[in-house]
Amino acid sequence: MRRKVTKAVFPVAGLGTRFLPATKSIPKEIMTLVDRPLIQYAIDEARAAGIKEFIFVTSRGKSALEDYFDHAPELEAALRQKGKDDLLDAMKDTIMDSGAIAYIRQHKPLGLGHAVWCARRLIGDEPFAVILPDDVIAAEKPCLQQMVESYEETGGNMVAAMEVAPEKTSSYGVLDVAEDLGSLVRVKGMVEKPKQEDAPSNLAVIGRYILTPNILKTLNKMKSGAGGEIQLTDAIAQEIVAGGDVFGLRFRGQRFDCGSKAGFLQATVAFGLSRPDLRDEFSTYINELVTSQKAAQ
Ligand code: UTP
Repeated sequence: MRRKVTKAVFPVAGLGTRFLPATKSIPKEIMTLVDRPLIQYAIDEARAAGIKEFIFVTSRGKSALEDYFDHAPELEAALRQKGKDDLLDAMKDTIMDSGAIAYIRQHKPLGLGHAVWCARRLIGDEPFAVILPDDVIAAEKPCLQQMVESYEETGGNMVAAMEVAPEKTSSYGVLDVAEDLGSLVRVKGMVEKPKQEDAPSNLAVIGRYILTPNILKTLNKMKSGAGGEIQLTDAIAQEIVAGGDVFGLRFRGQRFDCGSKAGFLQATVAFGLSRPDLRDEFSTYINELVTSQKAAQ
């Protein structure tokens, strides 16, 4: 029997420079899509995939994240007194059981690979998921759940993959495909941020991974890769060289890059329009806006 994936690492120690000045005092992961912070979408996705232990790799200035997952006794009492049961319900999703959540520090932003390595003692000797909360995925079946189901068949390491325009490969880790099995691909190499002419495919890795504990040993030995940071992609590529299995899953769903301003705005519109309580008012507004802009041209 394959060991179940019950731990997830959430690397949230990056500087979030693309959202300065906002991220001077607010962690990027607390920024809000409609009425929930990015991190809540990530946690919900992890819970749906069967994750029981949540490991955050944090840095200085991220205390708002820790508070978010705690009880807020005064606020809860006030809501209870006013009979606001719907809001109390919405708050329930934010609370983590004692002992289910752990925080570990990355003292310097030395890269995603380094952030994952920082969690090595909490991960131990079992497969684990990595979720980057700034990649938000709208999907009927949550992306990590799709991956866990595939992983139960394949074992090995698995990354979430999506087709990107050839000129965009330089923004992603890109898969070198050995065998295309349909929704799954077997991977023979990975390149971090290749130029269009050097990209082995246009299948890009986005922020969901299931990894075997061996990757931690690889990270232990790693030197800096692209951009002077310790890249997770490079460690996964080394796993392949060492004979480990790596699969890419073409997940079903739409990914929003909420680490970028344009992606965040797109997600805000898409999630706003998908909310039954907002849809009518918001779509009327957008239609009017588009019409008035067209008229002005
Ligand atoms: P990004 O590449 O988006 O970097 O990291 P960033 O610092 O968050 O944002 P920008 O580019 O400066 O605007 C991808 C993910 O990896 C985490 C980030 O928190 C984010 O979830 N990360 C990155 C770390 O935890 N540690 C690092 O050293 C680097």
